[in-house]
Amino acid sequence: MLDHTRRTLLRAGLLLPVAASASAAPALPLLAPPAASTPAVLATDRAYWASVAAQYDMVDDVVLLDNGYWGSMARPVLDTYQRATATVNRGNAWYGRTVFPAEWVAAHQQAAAALGVAPDEIVLTRGATEALQALIGGYNRLRPGDVVLYADVDYDNMITTMNWLRTRRGVEVVRIALPEPATHAGVIAVYAQALARYPRLKMMLLTHVNHRNGMVLPVAEISRMARARGVDVIVDTAHGFGQLDMRIPDLEADFAGINLHKWIGAPVGVGAVYIKRGRVPDIDPYMGERAGNDIRSRVHTGTVNFAAYMALPAALALHQQIGVANKQARLRLLRQRWVDAARQIDGVDVLASDDPRLVSAIASFRLRGQTTPAQNAAVSKRLLLEHRVFTVPRDDLASGSCVRVTPAIFTTEAHIDSFIDALRHVARTG
Ligand SMILES: Cc1ncc(COP(=O)(O)O)c(C=O)c1O
Repeated sequence: MLDHTRRTLLRAGLLLPVAASASAAPALPLLAPPAASTPAVLATDRAYWASVAAQYDMVDDVVLLDNGYWGSMARPVLDTYQRATATVNRGNAWYGRTVFPAEWVAAHQQAAAALGVAPDEIVLTRGATEALQALIGGYNRLRPGDVVLYADVDYDNMITTMNWLRTRRGVEVVRIALPEPATHAGVIAVYAQALARYPRLKMMLLTHVNHRNGMVLPVAEISRMARARGVDVIVDTAHGFGQLDMRIPDLEADFAGINLHKWIGAPVGVGAVYIKRGRVPDIDPYMGERAGNDIRSRVHTGTVNFAAYMALPAALALHQQIGVANKQARLRLLRQRWVDAARQIDGVDVLASDDPRLVSAIASFRLRGQTTPAQNAAVSKRLLLEHRVFTVPRDDLASGSCVRVTPAIFTTEAHIDSFIDALRHVARTG
């Protein structure tokens, strides 16, 4: 499997041939955090985080700093998933029809408990895209001439769906740009201005943690302002839940799309749609599904990847064992380590705030003045080809393109330092 990955990368010209070979991390048990430890103290405990990293079997061909795409499964989750796949395959329809339904209900209930919502307020989906398309496309309180709004930081496909409302609902679609550098007050002010400027504004898309520069949006504050003006918000928390110490009700929003295959580390293909109790009628039944107030009629996935949902409880259990506050603190420490160092490098602009309310695991940078997609793709490619550091270029911020850097809970300080050495070299010779 590792050899196959290497061969594919080599063929694609994305990896230089090197002597080092990939190897699995040693199977250390997950340590118990010291009883009196706080998340901030535990974040610095390298022995503890080495024991977390040992739960993951990751390539060492590259320094993986694009962990926002999806979250690798830890070994216990992968084991559960692989066993579940075999069980499903052996049992076929007999298993799917007689045993799986109860397992599905159990996974659903555990997900609802972790999200902090009632079981009848969520439906499990294949991911945030499916959830958010159902919410944005189905939101039925729009009349021709109304206004909906999104921001430059929002996710590409959600922007597409928001723009589609122009033809689907006959509404005006407004795009705003969030300020850079961002401040808590500045971001809220932009939404306050938009709410004042567009009296026919009815619905806004808010991205909790955006995938371009990683800024955390003050969703609850903006939701409260919106509610006071009768405006609904649909929250894209593809990246928020699982890496930030929060539950869905903290967003104070009635609609949210959630990913469980990013920061919870469930198998790829697991997310959820949230509709606050009482709000189901404001989302259309999904493509002609039966009407009524059952949330399950608002999204329809069809036959699911059974094993992915069977492994969800294992992912949630590990998430809870490590503790979301501890994960958040560790991810912040790793992020801050590179952000602080990168700010000292001549010619590098870091797109990140230090206000803890705006900080996630994700942050981005660009070489000064280099704002085009091609320039940032070239920087990311140099990091990979010359230094074996894997990042991803991101486009379409109002300020231009950038390179996104995302550690995971298995990332080490040494990984971050390798990236910083690489960035120093790229900036010097750039
Ligand atoms: C902010 C944001 N929203 C939505 C999505 C869509 O998630 P998925 O492709 O897992 O459905 C992503 C994926 O990266 C994302 O970053």
